[in-house]
Amino acid sequence: MLPSRALGDRLVRPIGLGAMPLSSRKRPSEADALAVLDAALDAGIDLIDTADVYCINNGDLGHNERLIAACLRRRSARVLVATKGGLRRPRGAWTSAAHPDQLKAACEASLRALASERIDLYQLHAPDDTVPLADSVGALAELQAAGKIAAIGLSNVSVAEIELARSIVPIVSVQNRFNPLDPSPITDGVLDWCTRNGVGFLAYSPVGGSEEYALIGRHPALIEVGRRIGASPYQVALAWLLACSPVVIPIPGASKLSSVHSSAAVMDMELSASDKVFLDHAFLPG
Ligand SMILES: NC(=O)c1ccc[n+]([C@@H]2O[C@H](COP(=O)([O-])OP(=O)(O)OC[C@H]3O[C@@H](n4cnc5c(N)ncnc54)[C@H](OP(=O)(O)O)[C@@H]3O)[C@@H](O)[C@H]2O)c1
Repeated sequence: MLPSRALGDRLVRPIGLGAMPLSSRKRPSEADALAVLDAALDAGIDLIDTADVYCINNGDLGHNERLIAACLRRRSARVLVATKGGLRRPRGAWTSAAHPDQLKAACEASLRALASERIDLYQLHAPDDTVPLADSVGALAELQAAGKIAAIGLSNVSVAEIELARSIVPIVSVQNRFNPLDPSPITDGVLDWCTRNGVGFLAYSPVGGSEEYALIGRHPALIEVGRRIGASPYQVALAWLLACSPVVIPIPGASKLSSVHSSAAVMDMELSASDKVFLDHAFLPG
């Protein structure tokens, strides 16, 4: 088993679960969604990523968080639940809503949906162009001071935005898109910054998300390494992300049990140095 990774003062397993597909338009039944969450915990995953807006529209806010609460109510496992605030879903669209008053109301709603007195990790979903970032982060600092959230993270941010936020309050995690076909955290410096500062990096859409999932599955370099080590191209993609930095924690989404089992098995895989270099050449510019 690969070693656990630090998220603030908590240690978590190197692969988390992205719960978003359990609440999308193509969501599974509640029983099947709970089975996916149970399978993740049974496989040793102890970080679940969610958001108030993992739902189909504003009338359905908190759907994903309520599912997680329903799963955890039946179990005694120690799990870090990472949720987010700062977006809304009017008529199913994704819009910004990170004014301090909106964030405080969103956090209270997440506490109710998660049936919790304190959120383990509360992430700003994305900076809001209409609100100074310092104001949004200031609201998170107030929520932390009030004991409503244990730790603060950011998502969809640049190095300059992380540094600004960190001048206001401690930041334990950054969550940006990262997969072999989108290695932007390496080229924009965010991953290097997180590595140097010991800040956890939650890699979202790590097997391509809905846009690049199929391309990852048929990428020749991932298939070739997979043949060598007996792994699927998706597992090789996750193993490569893990090999890029000790702060990376991929959070693959899943609505099927087979996806959870496949991703969790990567916690027992390690790329050889030569396969890591081979994949770097395939996916990194220069
Ligand atoms: N912060 C943000 O702005 C942001 C944006 C997007 C996502 N996220 C977070 O990141 C998580 C993951 O991103 P994502 O769901 O967009 O994309 P993803 O993790 O790349 O996964 C896409 C799909 O790939 C399948 N899959 C996952 N692991 C697999 C494996 N080992 N083998 C084969 N297929 C596999 C799953 O299909 P099935 O559904 O069929 O099982 C999953 O729904 C989300 O759940 C969410 O928590 C955050």
